[in-house]
Amino acid sequence: MIIRALRRASPEGIAGTDLARELGLTRGAIWARMDVLRSAGFEIEASPHYGYRLVSGPANLVGDDIAAQLESSRIIGHNVQVYRETSSTNELADRLARGGAAEGTVIMAERQTAGKGRMGRQWICPGNRSLLFSLILRPVMRPTEVARLTLLAACSVSKALRNLTNARLQIKWPNDVHFEDRKLAGILTEMRADMDQVEYVIVGIGVNILHQPEDFPPEIRDTATSLIQIAGTLPPRSTIAARILDQIDRDLTFTRTHGFEQCLDEWKSMSCTLGRWIDLRVGSNVYSGQAERIDESGALWIRGESGKLMQFNGGEVTTQKDMTP
Ligand code: BTN
Repeated sequence: MIIRALRRASPEGIAGTDLARELGLTRGAIWARMDVLRSAGFEIEASPHYGYRLVSGPANLVGDDIAAQLESSRIIGHNVQVYRETSSTNELADRLARGGAAEGTVIMAERQTAGKGRMGRQWICPGNRSLLFSLILRPVMRPTEVARLTLLAACSVSKALRNLTNARLQIKWPNDVHFEDRKLAGILTEMRADMDQVEYVIVGIGVNILHQPEDFPPEIRDTATSLIQIAGTLPPRSTIAARILDQIDRDLTFTRTHGFEQCLDEWKSMSCTLGRWIDLRVGSNVYSGQAERIDESGALWIRGESGKLMQFNGGEVTTQKDMTP
């Protein structure tokens, strides 16, 4: 792949003859492909002395460019598809998975017209500012174990973004990535399964990258944040996407060999929910108490004021700030 060769070349660039040999193309064909890349927004210098040098990628996301930047793609990233607009990447991924799309396929969009959030909510964001993507996974697990994949994704996203920015990111149960109590990323996991066996899982991830406060709808302006607000300067979105996909790939590969325990420990160490006094809304009911532990299935255990211990598989946490120990 020509983008990969350019991305992996030395800072001086790569000679046209080397590129032609590596890709099995004529120098004329290489020249023509460079023109195609330039018209897609890649800035490529060509000098008779050094050959070709990639100066910068396009501002919009390009699937092959993200794939070219992956360092770890054992499970994820052999096929990265980017759409300018779709209803919801989860919906599109679901359709493709139903049609047999391979595990590890990544469906990304610059804009969603009907982005889905947890608990039937909408995920609204302006185009070209976020990373909005869904992964198709085909794990061998029971439906009751699928919540683990959501916790894993929350850990992987947090670690990847922390490595890029040094920011102290935390996870609000079950899977919101937060910075200083503001939401930076959300995850929506959906699946198709029968009683005993999962057919496929769609892990949908939305990360706020370039948003300024006014880009958020007024109702979430005080509770949402973006990576640019946290870090000031950032690598291109395609590089951020690649680092997130790499981290998910590494963590997924690790858990498939060694089990889920380490992932759960990481989740606990990044949790901003455990130990706090919280309200948990489940449907129209609200349960209050101290978040005591999370178990191996991803369920949250809360101890109410009466001392009663309650287990929850889902819901919306709000923290009672004044009672936090
Ligand atoms: C949440 O409510 O916190 C979960 C939000 C998940 C949003 C992402 S954006 C990409 C993917 N496609 C969707 O329609 N939703 C998820």
